[in-house]
Amino acid sequence: MKKALKFIGILALLALIAIQFIRPDRNDGGYETVIPFENETKPSVQVAAILKENCYDCHSDQTQYPWYAEIAPFSLWLEEHIEHGKGHFNVSEWKSYSVKKKDHKLEELIEMVEDGEMPLDSYTWMHGNLPEEDKLLLIQWATLSRLQYKDQLNISTNQ
Ligand code: HEC
Repeated sequence: MKKALKFIGILALLALIAIQFIRPDRNDGGYETVIPFENETKPSVQVAAILKENCYDCHSDQTQYPWYAEIAPFSLWLEEHIEHGKGHFNVSEWKSYSVKKKDHKLEELIEMVEDGEMPLDSYTWMHGNLPEEDKLLLIQWATLSRLQYKDQLNISTNQ
């Protein structure tokens, strides 16, 4: 029995070592990729900082990796969140979104922040919850930004 446990322990350790060789690609396209998004949606300096600290890690081409991102299985788990988050909403690809999609993403953003669904729970465990005043600032900014897209949508549907 003792021998079997030892054997399982060694196997688990070997597996842990083996998965260290799986190195997911780094999400490090650079913060300059978020500039077109910020030029268009015009967050204040404060809102831009909130987005950078709480959202861009999973919703842009630039992630600030924590130290444990070097270690599998955490590295793989982070990779999954980043890819999933970017698949839904990637500010680094804002320019390629249609006006309708931009408006819709900001609408979702307001709902998710209001309901406390974003940032993800697994993220706030490590980074802390978003304070109420930051939530309000995000919602105000997104509501104002949507006006330009609503305008553009009205113009295009009236033509
Ligand atoms: C740890 C990664 C992570 C962080 C940090 C994060 N998100 Fe997300 N986000 C996701 C994932 C994964 C999804 C898609 C799954 C889902 O809908 O639950 C998502 C979905 C969204 C969507 C919905 C897009 C759609 O079309 O359905 C919006 C909007 C969004 N996030 C905004 C934010 C905002 C704003 C912040 C910061 C306050 C934030 N997220 C922080 C991972 C993250």
